[in-house]
Amino acid sequence: MSALTAVRVDGADPSLSLFRLLDPQVLANPYPLYHRLRAEDPVHWDPFLHEWVVTRYTDVIRVLHEFSATCTPTPEQLNAMGLSALNPIGQVMIKQMLFMDAPAHTRLRGLASQAFAPHRVELLRAHIQEITDDLLEAVLPGGSMDVIAALAEPLPCIVMAEMLGVPVEDHTQLKAWSQDFAEMLGNFQYNPDRAPRILKSVNEMIRYFSSAISEQRARPRSGLVSALVNAEVQGDRLSEEEVVANCILTMVGGQETTTNLIGNGVLSLLRNPDQLQQLRGDLSLVPSAVEELLRYESPSQHTARLAPEDLELGGRPIRKRQAVIAVMGAANRDPERFPDPDRLDITRRDNRHVAFGWGPHFCFGAALARIEGQTAFETMLRRMPKLALGPDPLVWRANLGLRGLTRLQVSF
Ligand code: HEM
Repeated sequence: MSALTAVRVDGADPSLSLFRLLDPQVLANPYPLYHRLRAEDPVHWDPFLHEWVVTRYTDVIRVLHEFSATCTPTPEQLNAMGLSALNPIGQVMIKQMLFMDAPAHTRLRGLASQAFAPHRVELLRAHIQEITDDLLEAVLPGGSMDVIAALAEPLPCIVMAEMLGVPVEDHTQLKAWSQDFAEMLGNFQYNPDRAPRILKSVNEMIRYFSSAISEQRARPRSGLVSALVNAEVQGDRLSEEEVVANCILTMVGGQETTTNLIGNGVLSLLRNPDQLQQLRGDLSLVPSAVEELLRYESPSQHTARLAPEDLELGGRPIRKRQAVIAVMGAANRDPERFPDPDRLDITRRDNRHVAFGWGPHFCFGAALARIEGQTAFETMLRRMPKLALGPDPLVWRANLGLRGLTRLQVSF
């Protein structure tokens, strides 16, 4: 989680501040701002956010690889910011693997990866196809749809309920909670009006997963909840609080981003008709297209770390525990790494993007996300030969880190 609120700095030049993402026009197309940052000040001290902003590919990799992820605010910091009401959320976050360093992170990820074995994910592939077919079947007769509401939201949400091993009927509730929690992840704007609602959602999620754990202790089901409860490495097990916190992380991480991959991906293809046509003509390009769509409009644009010690990055001195934002969305458009980075090229080779992060926290669900994206794009292209963008203006969601559309109207 990045800093929760901006600092007012009289006289400072705001033109390079990441806070400009609050301007809907910049949010709709942040890439000119990223290009300026990378060209003019690639390791930039943002006086408004009070954080370093890092935009070059090599620097982003270094930050993700070496810097500390223990950046959830302590109760003292929240109190100092007048945000003590958010303490219960901080208490959940410090038990989530995303905000831990080794050795605590290694232990938790090791235990959780037992529950996330590749065969478990592969088993879901045929089922993901069935869910996608059912969702599209429902809208095909109408000739038009909102991609977000009809497919991009429900698909990851249903898949996530099944993966967790909780009742699929609960998926709309899981989605609502997940959207609330996502306001805390990858976002550096703080909206005090929303705090009570986010807090309520977090408390409800804690109760929901605690009771799922009790039920599944009595009647084990296949899925992540039971697998995390039973995961064991040399006698070590996760505590109930750790299981709950990481079910919440997985649920949110698995939904908000995958929705964005599908929505942003469909939009990017429609805005680049030559690429759409090429893909239609050769569906074997779908896996390569998904990687390019992840690079081109990264669903998760940036993440936060702390400097592990006094050090130098890109010639700038960074002090121990200073906050650093690694902008994956900018690294993925770095011309030093990706030739002609603003061009969508579904056949791009050597496409080692950082959309899933890098290093110890590399996305836990990347394999699942890829299967969902591949299935969604391929099925839409097969079943919707005349896909076209609707006339409605595009509205990007207000979350500054999780880049995605609120609606995407298409006809087919
Ligand atoms: C297109 C879809 C997805 C994208 C773009 C994405 C992106 C990311 C990124 C960038 C990180 C690293 C964040 C950091 O280093 O601060 C991450 C971590 C993580 N993701 Fe994903 N993710 C996606 C889908 C999923 C899915 C489907 C799941 C679960 C089923 C998931 C679960 C996680 C978890 C648990 C972590 C934390 C790993 C750790 O801290 O060791 N993600 N994801």
